[in-house]
Amino acid sequence: MKGNLWKILSRREHRETQLLWSLLGICFLSSVLGYKPVVIVHGLFDSSADFVNLLRFINQSHPGTNVSVIDLFDRTASLEPLWKQVEGFKEAIYPIMQNAAEGVHFICYSQGGLICRGILSTLPDHNVHSFISLSSPQAGQYGDTVYLKYLFPTFVKANLYHLCYTAVGQKISICNYWNDPHHRDMYVNSSDYLALLNSERPNPNATVWKNNFLRIKKLILIGGPDDGVITPWQSSQFGFYDDNETVIDMKNQEMFLRDSFGLKTLYARGDLALCSLAGVEHVMWHSNETVYKTCIEKWLI
Ligand SMILES: *[C@@H]1O[C@H](CO)[C@@H](O)[C@H](O)[C@H]1NC(C)=O
Ligand SMILES: *[C@@H]1O[C@H](CO)[C@@H](O)[C@H](O)[C@H]1NC(C)=O
Ligand SMILES: *[C@@H]1O[C@H](CO)[C@@H](O)[C@H](O)[C@H]1NC(C)=O
Ligand SMILES: *[C@@H]1O[C@H](CO)[C@@H](O)[C@H](O)[C@H]1NC(C)=O
Ligand SMILES: *[C@@H]1O[C@H](CO)[C@@H](O)[C@H](O)[C@H]1NC(C)=O
Ligand SMILES: *[C@@H]1O[C@H](CO)[C@@H](O)[C@H](O)[C@H]1NC(C)=O
Repeated sequence: MKGNLWKILSRREHRETQLLWSLLGICFLSSVLGYKPVVIVHGLFDSSADFVNLLRFINQSHPGTNVSVIDLFDRTASLEPLWKQVEGFKEAIYPIMQNAAEGVHFICYSQGGLICRGILSTLPDHNVHSFISLSSPQAGQYGDTVYLKYLFPTFVKANLYHLCYTAVGQKISICNYWNDPHHRDMYVNSSDYLALLNSERPNPNATVWKNNFLRIKKLILIGGPDDGVITPWQSSQFGFYDDNETVIDMKNQEMFLRDSFGLKTLYARGDLALCSLAGVEHVMWHSNETVYKTCIEKWLI
């Protein structure tokens, strides 16, 4: 009787000790590993100052996360050609990656989502885990928006190709991803940025770029129908217009079917997530807590 009681007691003690050890283990692991650093790349006409809300959301849900909002090519400088911006951002971000043994996450907003793709495609030793594309015109842009009116007051979407698909036009960021569905040949021939990244125009670096890009662990594509700037809004998830301006979704796009830069591979790997939300205007994506909770938070571990 006495012996049995002793056995029961010591068994319980053993369980408690085990529990204590595993708790200590969890504390130890999370203090050593922590959350991966987050790098934020801004969009057209904005700057690092626009991300105070997003910083607050991350600090609340993942305290201690080291977040860097890269303060380069702000405001009108964001009109510089995208390859030039890729080089600039890369130089700023590379040391952050080197400091992060466990890797980093990217949150790239609007035009910044295209800059991030340029970085991921041309940096062979990047260590990006989640690439979060926050309302970025990933398949291009074709729409009359306030930005367009401000930039090119004498143009509308139907005639902007005259300017964009020239050597001079390609020195302006927005022309680097202007995708006129009625002048596809010209886009494919002239776009020095998006048509190359998408491998819509054959280029000798395509295979290398694809392999570099595929080092990411997850691609998260966030967008929604009330965006008001990204046109069509589905471009944020690689959908785009055909020559009738009917939106063809990602999975029926040639670049997906041909797996020209890795999108289909990511999908097959189970590493492609789409997150669509209604009721969010373009300038609100980074400042709307529902967007953060629904589409971003879980990928920042
Ligand atoms: C993060 O939250 C803590 C606690 O609320 C606060 O003290 C700190 O200043 C915040 N840091 C940033 C960068 O917002
Ligand atoms: C955050 O990351 C930057 C870039 O790697 C680094 O210089 C800085 O020391 C880090 N800050 C903290 C508090 O770890
Ligand atoms: C595009 O380039 C091809 C090959 O150089 C050429 O044959 C074709 O005429 C060009 N199309 C346009 C619209 O410029
Ligand atoms: C291919 O990559 C090399 C080295 O990075 C670069 O010099 C060259 O311009 C790239 N080619 C194209 C078509 O972008
Ligand atoms: C474009 O629309 C017209 C009229 O609705 C239709 O006849 C034609 O087949 C469509 N073309 C494509 C490529 O879908
Ligand atoms: C925030 O996002 C939610 C969810 O999509 C949406 O219903 C709401 O209108 C948004 N609020 C603002 C101010 O953008």
